[in-house]
Parts: sequence; structure tokens; C-alpha cells
Amino acid sequence: MAAEGNPVRAITITPLVAKSARRVDVPPPQPAPGEVTVRVVRVGICGTDFEILRGALGEAPAGEDRLVLGHESLGVVEGVVGGVSGLAAGDYVVATVRRPDGCPNCTAGESDMCLWGDFTERGIKRAHGFLTELYSEKPEFLVKVPPELADVAVLLEPLSVVEKAVEQAFLIQRRLRWEPKRALVLGAGAIGLLATALLRLRGLETFTLARSGGDSAAGRAAAALGGAYVSAVGRPLEELRQSLGRFDFILEATGSSAVASHALPALATNGVMCLVGVYSSNRVQELPVDSLYSDLVQGNKVVFGSVNAGRRYFEKGIEDLREARSRWPGVIERFISRRLPLERFEEVTARSPGDIKTVIEL
Ligand code: BGC
Repeated sequence: MAAEGNPVRAITITPLVAKSARRVDVPPPQPAPGEVTVRVVRVGICGTDFEILRGALGEAPAGEDRLVLGHESLGVVEGVVGGVSGLAAGDYVVATVRRPDGCPNCTAGESDMCLWGDFTERGIKRAHGFLTELYSEKPEFLVKVPPELADVAVLLEPLSVVEKAVEQAFLIQRRLRWEPKRALVLGAGAIGLLATALLRLRGLETFTLARSGGDSAAGRAAAALGGAYVSAVGRPLEELRQSLGRFDFILEATGSSAVASHALPALATNGVMCLVGVYSSNRVQELPVDSLYSDLVQGNKVVFGSVNAGRRYFEKGIEDLREARSRWPGVIERFISRRLPLERFEEVTARSPGDIKTVIEL
């Protein structure tokens, strides 16, 4: 059946083909009854997108050979087809990313904890993304955003990932009496800086370690959040570890397995470390595994991974975005360091060292 309405602009890629991104016209969404049509305002680009753009990740919907990119979005409700959705035209919304398969966890509303792995992810795996003018979606996958947060709400999806990681770490630590004081965040992209903000909101002394200099946008942002920014420029990981001491909580968001394994011994007794990076370099490392494992055992330490985030973490993210803005006016906004109109999407991969988060404006 031919789609009704005018075609809409979109960025699509051929999965697993590097440099295949194209600006194309695609058929407009055909919302099913009860679905909501959303006009996209802007879309954030993250490490996962860069992996897709370099041909290392991504899957088109069944029967198609191209995938509409984009999973970090902000949009405005354009219309609702029948049914009651709790959403009205003009509402700002952010869409969640993962869509359930039929596994028990997905069925219970926790598709971020999917057991079967048959989920789809919009803009990543077998479902079109949001880097297009219009999309349609079931209301249960749309999170309403207060208008006063609209300028930063494109950060809500990455923030949800951090909310989940931090909440899970604190839940895991209910295994013991735990009073965390020092946290280490590895990486100062949007995920690292959002983690820095959350941990500062929770009152932890937070160190954010990254590759750029202290006078970089990321370094200044981390400092503005009351965190200590540690530049890794010209400093071997081993030396950094010795000078920084130990941490109750470590969040690894660089996606470098070398950084992750070097950081492991920096975990304090009874500490917890969470990995959220995309590790795809196929690096083979020689590691002192006996001493690493023995240290985990003797120190009662936990290392865990966390991916994606369900709706409740988006909702928690809205509360924290509000709190972060009132505590550090003008700082969260700076995480959006580059804005490109859709017409200039080609420039997205030409990143400057100071770039934290590039967004594409529709
Ligand atoms: C997204 C998650 C997603 C993950 C793996 C991340 O960039 O934020 O929602 O689950 O990629 O595909």
C-alpha cells in the first residue's frame, strides 16, 4: 500500500557499510490507531551512532536495506490517531529506544533487561530511528517533557542510561553498609558529564577523567559541576591511578577496554564499577588476571555492565535535569556543544576535540 502524505526528509544508512549515510526523502509515517505522530525538533548523535556510521553496528528493519538513524530525540506531538494517550498536540516528547520482544522481562515492562535479545531499538537495531522530520509511535514509548526543559531534553536519552547505571550500582550496594564518598567517571562526553552531574547531585566527591585538557569545554563543564576534572593528556594510566587513589564507585564511559582494565584496581574495598561504554575495537590485552581477580575477591568488589534504560529512568532523568539546572544554571546547556542543520549532516563526523554532544536540528 502506498504511504499517504508528502515524503519527509531523513538520514539513512546501509547497515554495516561505512560512510553510507545519505540525506533522502522517505515515505511519511503511517500511524496505527492509538499512535502518536511526532514532529522531530532535534536529534543527538552519540558513540553508538558513530559506530553505526563507521559500519560496525546497525540493522535495518526486516525486508528493508536501509535504516533511519537517530535514537536520542526531542519532538513535538503533531497529532494523535484515535484512542486516549495522555498526550496532546504541542506537547514536547522524548521517545524511549528499545522495543520489547516477548520475553518475561520485556513483558513485565523491563525491555532494557531483555532476556532473549530479540528486542528492536529505534535507529539502531531493526527499527527506524528519529533522524527524520516525522515519526509515529505508541504513547507508552513517549515521555512527556515539561516545556521549560525543552532546550536540554535531547540529553534525556543519554541521561536515562546514566540514571539506570547509577541506580543499579546503588541497588547492588544494598548488599552491605555502604557510604560512598569518592566517585571516578571515565570519559567526559555527554554520558561522562551527565554522570558527573548525577553523582554531584548525590553528594559524591567526583573526579572526571578524560583525554582533553583542563581548559576544554568538557573540563570546564565538569569543574562547573563542582567535580574535579583530571586531564589524561601526557599522563600514563598507571601514574594517574597511583596519584588519584581509590574510589567507591567507578563509571566507565570511554569505551576503551584498556582504560577500563587499568581502572579496575582503583576500585576501593567493597566498591562497585559499572561499564556503559561501547567496546568494539577487538583489542587483545595482556592482563594480570590473577591479581585482578584476587583483588575483586579480597575486596568484595563488584563490576557490572548496564545498557539502555526503561521509561522510569527517563522520568527520573526529568527530575534530575530540573534539579541540575537550578543548581548549576547554564551548565547543562553547554553539554550541547555543536548544532548542525539536517542539510549539513555530512559534517557530523568531523568532530573537534572540544565537542561534547553534537545535535542535528530539524
Ligand atoms: C543507547 C541505548 C542502546 C545502546 C545499545 C546506546 O547508545 O543509548 O539506548 O540500548 O546504545 O544499542
